[in-house]
Amino acid sequence: MTGQDDLKRAVAKAAIGYIPGDCIVGVGTGSTANFFIDELAGIRHKIRGAVASSEASAKRLQGHGIEVLSLNEAGDLPVYVDGADEITRHMHMIKGGGGALTREKIVAAASKKFICVCDSSKLVNVLGKFPLPVEVIPMARSYVARQLVALGGQPMLREGFTTDNGNVILDVHGLKIMNPVELEATLDHIAGVVTNGLFARRAADVLLLGTPEGVKTMTA
Ligand code: 5RP
Repeated sequence: MTGQDDLKRAVAKAAIGYIPGDCIVGVGTGSTANFFIDELAGIRHKIRGAVASSEASAKRLQGHGIEVLSLNEAGDLPVYVDGADEITRHMHMIKGGGGALTREKIVAAASKKFICVCDSSKLVNVLGKFPLPVEVIPMARSYVARQLVALGGQPMLREGFTTDNGNVILDVHGLKIMNPVELEATLDHIAGVVTNGLFARRAADVLLLGTPEGVKTMTA
């Protein structure tokens, strides 16, 4: 097993083992989450439905005949399965490469267990090589960008992209994130920021890491 897609498929399969019967599953966004959705289709008669973290995932779930519920209808969820752009051994993550960070953070917050599914390229010692996505209310774009520069980052507008919530994304380059919990809170306090892509306060509970030697299971 070597190709990146094979690794993603393997962790997606492994995540099925964490889905209780007769439950509503929280489902993430991205290429690894897509593999998970495809695996979920195989057990669709054993679950009640899913809450999706993006319009794209909702469409894919529905395409497999899986009922998509709103989080308001579903209430708290037993489990959320999603990928990450970077993750540390402490289970802190950068997410939002696909631009779905706000809904991902909401569904993760409402879930008892966060199962992160990644190929081994995503495991890092220090977060920040991957540009940190920050979702911003459009009128606050320049103001927030100046605040991000003052914090030592180089924000770049994600050109031609609007989030499912009608906002823009600033991808912040050049941050070496030594204290993700603190930076997550600092960024959330900038007026105009909707969400930042640090998932440190609500970190993952389990990491299923796809490696050429097989799927490794890690916890904090
Ligand atoms: C989307 C995300 C994804 O989880 C992250 O970008 C990883 O995606 P992929 O599985 O395609 O590498 O946060 O907003």
